[in-house]
Amino acid sequence: MKILVINGSPKGDASNSLKLTKAFLEGMGDNDVREVTVSRLNLSPCKGCFCCWSKTPGKCVINDDMSRVIEDELWADIIIWSFPLYYFNVPGPLKNLIDRQLPMNLPFMTEREDGMGSGSHPSRYDMSGKRYILISTCGFYSAEKNYESVKSMFDYICGKGNYETIFCGQGELFRAPELKKRTDEYLDIVRKAGREYISTGISNETRSKLNELLYPKEVFEQMADASWGIDKETGNEVDKSLSFTRQMAALYNKGSYDGKDRVLEICYTDLGKTYQILLGKDGSKVFTAGSLPATTRIETPWEVWTSIARGEIRGDVALFKGMYKVTGDFSLMMNWDKYFSKTKEQQENEIDKSLTSKNKKPSMMTMLIPWITFWIAVSINANIGAIITLAVCACTPMVMARKELTVYDKISMAVVSLLSVLTLQNDMKIISIVAGYLAFGLMWLLSCFTREPLCAAYVKYDYNGEDALNNPIFMKTNYVLAVGWGILYILTAIWSWFLMRLNMIVLLQILNNAATWAMGIFTIWFVRWYPQHIALKGKR
Ligand SMILES: Cc1cc2nc3c(=O)[nH]c(=O)nc-3n(C[C@H](O)[C@H](O)[C@H](O)COP(=O)(O)O)c2cc1C
Repeated sequence: MKILVINGSPKGDASNSLKLTKAFLEGMGDNDVREVTVSRLNLSPCKGCFCCWSKTPGKCVINDDMSRVIEDELWADIIIWSFPLYYFNVPGPLKNLIDRQLPMNLPFMTEREDGMGSGSHPSRYDMSGKRYILISTCGFYSAEKNYESVKSMFDYICGKGNYETIFCGQGELFRAPELKKRTDEYLDIVRKAGREYISTGISNETRSKLNELLYPKEVFEQMADASWGIDKETGNEVDKSLSFTRQMAALYNKGSYDGKDRVLEICYTDLGKTYQILLGKDGSKVFTAGSLPATTRIETPWEVWTSIARGEIRGDVALFKGMYKVTGDFSLMMNWDKYFSKTKEQQENEIDKSLTSKNKKPSMMTMLIPWITFWIAVSINANIGAIITLAVCACTPMVMARKELTVYDKISMAVVSLLSVLTLQNDMKIISIVAGYLAFGLMWLLSCFTREPLCAAYVKYDYNGEDALNNPIFMKTNYVLAVGWGILYILTAIWSWFLMRLNMIVLLQILNNAATWAMGIFTIWFVRWYPQHIALKGKR
């Protein structure tokens, strides 16, 4: 396909609208594309002399770049008009270009087939096979009702219903790196629209996604007002850190309110500025006086915090490296995405996850059931216990059919089955029980040499799924715990060997139970304490 893009933004390549157009083109695949950047053209306004209709038919008296634009328009199969909305219409230079298309028409009066207006001038050229797309961003929160005069103009130019449109509000957000995650989601939908357009046409589903707001009206407007760095009431210039903090506060998702007001205090250590954001039922408010009792306090150099906001460094990685500190209630940090406007993608992922969670999430019980059965049943009666364990191992995949099986589940079932077979041999009870503890401990320890320590394979779903594996605090917590459980069970194997040979079974049971409980309590405490400890001190 031969595609002509007419970029009508006075900002040229820096145009927000052009970002959408480029995504659309990417979606359309490999095509022969020409681009006309109106701001770079030598283009005078139409003189209104009508020479192109009389003295020099089809040719303008002005000798500038317009003749090349007309050639390109005649060359193209598809013309994409890419422009910002200026005063509810196209920017002036683009309107100039539109006026200068007069040589493309014949002077005679005709009725339009679509009944538009009170007459028209037929086209000098056969434009019947051409397709048109309008791609535009505007500054208000929504494109709805803002494009009436644009649509009315293009109804005349292209014919009513003879062109596609992608109109997007909140256009200035496309140049904010802090919001890239959300704007990239939108660009993905535009890309999809491009793919569909070239094959079957833009689907209703994609169309309705294109019409969704980037952010809710009040979030966007609060953010937009704060972005100018001018106080809304006084009109005075405000400090960049206050303007930034207000924009951050605007992203607060009041749907996350759980009945408790929170005060997030943020101190930009190098700027010597501290602000408090009250996160309440009705939204957020930024205070400069610092009179509220802080629930959570962040101490950060300005550059670190803004780099995190721009997505140049992960917040959890920076925290782990001690680049900033957090004191007070750490749950706000753990649930940051929930409090500060989760992106659409995250929300949808979460819905998908909860819908299919029964099928997708693994359960640590799948891994533990064979081991627990083995240790209890075999210590009561070696042969019957071994047979029961074999049966349990065989049934576990069926019983846990709605859970995903991890590699540790499979290893556990295989090893426990082997140990049960070993137990069925004469005089192998003690050896197999001890070997079981040893194998269990080794499985935990060896998992630390992989990308996913044993416990992480199960709990990562509570911490953003696969993304948790990039979170150094999460990973370190899990490595420490996996080592802890591994060492515990290797020690258990050693003392079990001696106590069983000395026939001190009661002491053994007390010791094993106490050790497991102690490690369980340590685990619960450690997963709470360790992230807070990192937040407070940074990495030592
Ligand atoms: C002179 C001027 C007039 C504008 N008029 C409107 C308008 O009427 N409605 C609107 O929603 N946005 C308006 N805007 C905002 C732009 O449409 C918005 O910033 C757009 O995303 C810019 O796109 P671009 O980067 O492709 O040029 C106006 C901007 C300027 C500079």
